[in-house]
Amino acid sequence: MTLTCLLLFLTQILVVKNSEASNNVPAVIVFGDSSVDSGNNNVIATVLKSNFRPYGRDFEGGRPTGRFCNGRVPPDFIAEAFGVKSTIPAYLDPAYTIQDFATGVCFASAGTGYDNATSAVLNVIPLWKELEFYKEYQARLRSHVGVERANEIISEALYLMSLGTNDFLENYYVFPTRRIHYTVSQYQDFLLSIAENFVRELYALGARKLSITGLVPVGCLPLERATNILGDHGCNEEYNNVALTFNAKLENVVARLNRELPQFKALSANAYSVFSDIIARPSAYGYEVVDKACCSTGTFEMSYLCSDRNPLTCTDAEKYVFWDAFHPTEKTNRISPYSTHIMEGHGRRITTLLCFHIVLLHLLSLVGETVAKVPAVIVFGDSSVDAGNNNYIPTIARSNFQPYGRDFEGGKATGRFCNGKIPTDFISEAFGLKTYVPAYLDPKYNISDFASGVTFASAATGYDNATSDVLSVIPLWKQLEYYKGYQKNLSAYLGESKAKETITDALHLTSLGTNDFLENYYTMPGRASQFTPQQYQVFLAGIAENFIRSLYELGARKISLGGLPPMGCLPLERTTNIAGGNDCVARFNNIALEFNDRLKNLTIKLNQELPGIKLVFSNPYYIMLNIIKKPELYGFQSTSVACCATGMFEMGYACSRGQMFSCTDASKYVFWDSFHPTEKTNSIVAKYMVLRVLYQFLQ
Ligand SMILES: *[C@@H]1O[C@H](CO)[C@@H](O)[C@H](O)[C@H]1NC(C)=O
Ligand SMILES: *[C@@H]1O[C@H](CO)[C@@H](O)[C@H](O)[C@H]1NC(C)=O
Ligand SMILES: *[C@@H]1O[C@H](CO)[C@@H](O)[C@H](O)[C@H]1NC(C)=O
Ligand SMILES: *[C@@H]1O[C@H](CO)[C@@H](O)[C@H](O)[C@H]1NC(C)=O
Ligand SMILES: *[C@@H]1O[C@H](CO)[C@@H](O)[C@H](O)[C@H]1NC(C)=O
Repeated sequence: MTLTCLLLFLTQILVVKNSEASNNVPAVIVFGDSSVDSGNNNVIATVLKSNFRPYGRDFEGGRPTGRFCNGRVPPDFIAEAFGVKSTIPAYLDPAYTIQDFATGVCFASAGTGYDNATSAVLNVIPLWKELEFYKEYQARLRSHVGVERANEIISEALYLMSLGTNDFLENYYVFPTRRIHYTVSQYQDFLLSIAENFVRELYALGARKLSITGLVPVGCLPLERATNILGDHGCNEEYNNVALTFNAKLENVVARLNRELPQFKALSANAYSVFSDIIARPSAYGYEVVDKACCSTGTFEMSYLCSDRNPLTCTDAEKYVFWDAFHPTEKTNRISPYSTHIMEGHGRRITTLLCFHIVLLHLLSLVGETVAKVPAVIVFGDSSVDAGNNNYIPTIARSNFQPYGRDFEGGKATGRFCNGKIPTDFISEAFGLKTYVPAYLDPKYNISDFASGVTFASAATGYDNATSDVLSVIPLWKQLEYYKGYQKNLSAYLGESKAKETITDALHLTSLGTNDFLENYYTMPGRASQFTPQQYQVFLAGIAENFIRSLYELGARKISLGGLPPMGCLPLERTTNIAGGNDCVARFNNIALEFNDRLKNLTIKLNQELPGIKLVFSNPYYIMLNIIKKPELYGFQSTSVACCATGMFEMGYACSRGQMFSCTDASKYVFWDSFHPTEKTNSIVAKYMVLRVLYQFLQ
């Protein structure tokens, strides 16, 4: 897993709304250039404008606003994620008043830079002047909401800064003045000294939470490609290197400011990685065109050159990374580094957010060095995490045949109920361990493989013994028996004390429960005649509790208890929801929510009772529901039917028989078969879990 995957993944969290969101950020305040300008240039005397079509054609009401984009720019998405507002108004726009600005305001000006000489090129607002406007804003805010509230807003607000590209591309490399006086490295230092002074002034004015965006791979902007004739229109690597070294120096400045300024929290949002991954693998993000922009010929046009009179402009900007020769499309702005702030959308304070950022880096360094603080991943559960144990027991609940595994390494059908990898594989990889977790009963593996990861899971099992009986699979108690045997073998293999240490530090994951409801309670008569749904939940939660206690007795200390997905939205349940127009079955989703609530409470209780345990609840419900409700945001095209066979009810052998109907590109589907997600969905959910919950085990 790379940094970029993680960052991308963070952006996906953007859309996960959390009901408990409390508003810790009262306003978003923006400084910078066209990457974040929402229309200030409309009212100043410059040619650098974009308040005409086709700019803004995908904005609310198809309105050009002065944003250099077909739609919104990153601060808009950030403000929205914080629950503040969906667009940030430009300070100079007469359509807005101080009342609007109290929750968000943009002072940015397209074409500007850190260097005064850069803003002079196209006669736009220099950075120092943005600060003057900000001071004026403070005074207006104080008279509007009162001094006390204004000061509160000022110190709690999130400040965003995004600029620097123009200093190089519009100034240093275009005009000789700066080049005569400065080497590239000196010019970088010059710009950063301005940046540092600016931040110190902001701090003196009361700002406490700041994110500065570094440079993107500026050598890959379509304009730079178009002019890179010697380089065959590839990215200009010299420019990219300038951006990279600039970003590294920026990190140092930010670190120093955090050290020196009390109560100040700044982070440098690394835009470079996300962009370079998008540029390297556009199709992974659903893009079709990366080297040219959408507008006009896509090679050099921006601003007035990119006007509605040009018939060449693309029709679907979502397929393009860039909107004009210099600026990303709205879609790319959504997938931007700012999205690191999205965590805040969950009602956490910025400090938490910053922690996340640090954890993220921490995680990455771990991945890089494969120094795992978690030495093994040990898994219990059902088909959501079975890697092939059912191949070795007499059951029909199998998937060790095509088309299962067709996107796995070597196109191999392993017994995973998926076209590729399952969530625990991705989690193992994120922790710097193996790229997949092997099945305990698979004779291809021995204890040397299992020492860093093993799954005891069995498809179709549940908490309830009666559930595993339905298809004669491995009951949960039996998985625990296997685990005891595993511990013995591990002791023989590693020595007793090392084995004990491994168990203490290993991450134990459970994922089951769906079958108890869908395959048992709501299908077979037995349990339904004994228990109400609520009583059955209590019964299952009791088994879960005993199971966690047993793991604890056996030495496990790091445990993740997995919750239920929105199981009413599985294609099988939809197919049979005829009266409900094949929509998600609300009753099943509600059961999942209720049961998850119980598991969450159980987690709290056991953490209090069992000394030294670190038990977390990993809840896949909201991230899955979001993917299902807004598939297009994740690049999916189908959510109600699965890829395999007709996609309506097939799984297991039925999936194999109907194979010729299967979809060709599973990455466009949320579900692989009528009961199980695709590898792509698994990857999103797993990364979400790592960043939201499981990162705690790396500390
Ligand atoms: C930029 O211009 C402003 C206003 O003239 C001036 O105060 C500031 O010192 C200049 N910045 C630099 C780095 O020269
Ligand atoms: C595990 O299997 C590998 C090869 O498959 C072998 O080299 C190794 O010695 C085995 N280890 C143990 C502990 O049996
Ligand atoms: C564990 O040990 C038992 C008994 O020595 C042996 O039969 C079994 O194959 C071992 N399992 C693994 C995975 O090494
Ligand atoms: C499930 O079966 C095992 C083995 O027979 C038994 O020990 C356990 O108590 C049963 N669990 C429940 C909840 O009945
Ligand atoms: C979980 O705990 C909360 C807070 O104590 C309580 O309101 C809720 O009813 C509990 N949920 C369940 C399902 O027991």
